[in-house]
Amino acid sequence: MAAPTTASSTVPSEVMDYERTYAETRPGSQRLYEEATGVFPSGVTHDNRYLQPFPVYCNRAAGAYKWDVDGHRYIDYLVGHGALLLGHSHPDVVRALAEQLPRGTHYGASHELEIRWGQLVQRLIPSAGRVKFVASGTEATHLAVRLARSFTGKDVIVKFEGHFHGWHDSMTAAVEPPYDVPSSSGVPSNVLATMRVLPADLERVQQALEPGDVAAVIVEPTGASWGSMPLEQSFLHGLRRLTQERGVLLIFDEVITGFRCAPGGVQGAFGITPDLTTLAKVLAGGLPGGAVTGRVDVMDILRFGDEPGWNRGGRIAHPGTFNANPLSAVAGIACLEIVAKGEVHPYVNRLAERLRAGCNAAGARYGLQGCAYGTFSMVHLTLDRTLLQAQGGPRYVKSKDGRIAKLRKAMLVQGVDLMGAGGMLSLAHTDEDVDLTIEAFANALAALDAEGVL
Ligand SMILES: Cc1ncc(COP(=O)(O)O)c(C=O)c1O
Repeated sequence: MAAPTTASSTVPSEVMDYERTYAETRPGSQRLYEEATGVFPSGVTHDNRYLQPFPVYCNRAAGAYKWDVDGHRYIDYLVGHGALLLGHSHPDVVRALAEQLPRGTHYGASHELEIRWGQLVQRLIPSAGRVKFVASGTEATHLAVRLARSFTGKDVIVKFEGHFHGWHDSMTAAVEPPYDVPSSSGVPSNVLATMRVLPADLERVQQALEPGDVAAVIVEPTGASWGSMPLEQSFLHGLRRLTQERGVLLIFDEVITGFRCAPGGVQGAFGITPDLTTLAKVLAGGLPGGAVTGRVDVMDILRFGDEPGWNRGGRIAHPGTFNANPLSAVAGIACLEIVAKGEVHPYVNRLAERLRAGCNAAGARYGLQGCAYGTFSMVHLTLDRTLLQAQGGPRYVKSKDGRIAKLRKAMLVQGVDLMGAGGMLSLAHTDEDVDLTIEAFANALAALDAEGVL
């Protein structure tokens, strides 16, 4: 069949044959993947990097771009799984790291940099009474949940369907449909029994808090999977009211949204202060790192004290080899100092809005009105017509759509790397990058349509 034309151009034949093009033009990635399968289960080091017949292997990145080992350049919408709000290798971050490296990467001691980093968190995040650094977002939600259970003396955590909070035992509950099957095996059933999973519905929350056994409600404040199932602001206000009325802690998991949606995260943007907040990603400027921050009286469970029985039995023990390591601290400080100026967000949000509008216009040609959605600098794409036509659109359903891997490859052969379906913008992206991405999306839709899978 002849390649259809989009509004802007004729669809290149390699896009129409994206599966073959992808497989035949990346011999370096293919070779490395074959090697990797002898090292890592399924050859990958993060589930989201799994792609058949093989994922791309990158060896260089700068600004909005990264390059694979076969020399292809990609406009990058993964931006370090959301960590690189400033883009790859921002000069201030690189300078800070280069200056720190000869001074040591780990002191095994307290240092001034961790104080400056923590003070920036306190300055920017409204709920940040006290701060505790950890090594990842998963560690952050793990510690937040433990703090809530210890502070309230209760075990139950309310979590919402589809919301992702890392991969520790409690948070394997209800990540993807079917929600009664945890995202991992190997999790004790008595741990899962402490999780009360709900759809994002205030009436259901009210009922769930009724028995009085709930320690905390944890929520991704833009909605499940960084807003793929969006939440209304009124829902967050409702959560704040219901939890406050019942002495239940409210945890905002701002691992993605913290510093990305606004300098003060979603809580800063919407004026809602949770009791505890989890942070990672942008926090550490692209290096590993996370934090829990929140109310002084709750965070004080981590303090040492002289009272009998406190240090063994009262407090929460918290070691962690890489907590607040100097490299993450300097990268985090460099990044947050730029974030604090407040100029990044209007820029990245505008680009995301343009990208959503352009993709929606392309989708409309195939009856996929509303296929691009999201808030702030985050973009989600769905090819699921049934979802789009359903009452409320994609917002109440999380779909596992096999076409997304196809879309991803059809975009990769055009030099665009999406995060699942969609992605995030950075300060390094330009209007031209967005235009190229919209054109690539239109071409990809044409290819999928010609294949009969749209
Ligand atoms: C909302 C949210 N919470 C927690 C995590 C876990 O963070 P990490 O991958 O650093 O363990 C993620 C990771 O993407 C996330 O999106």
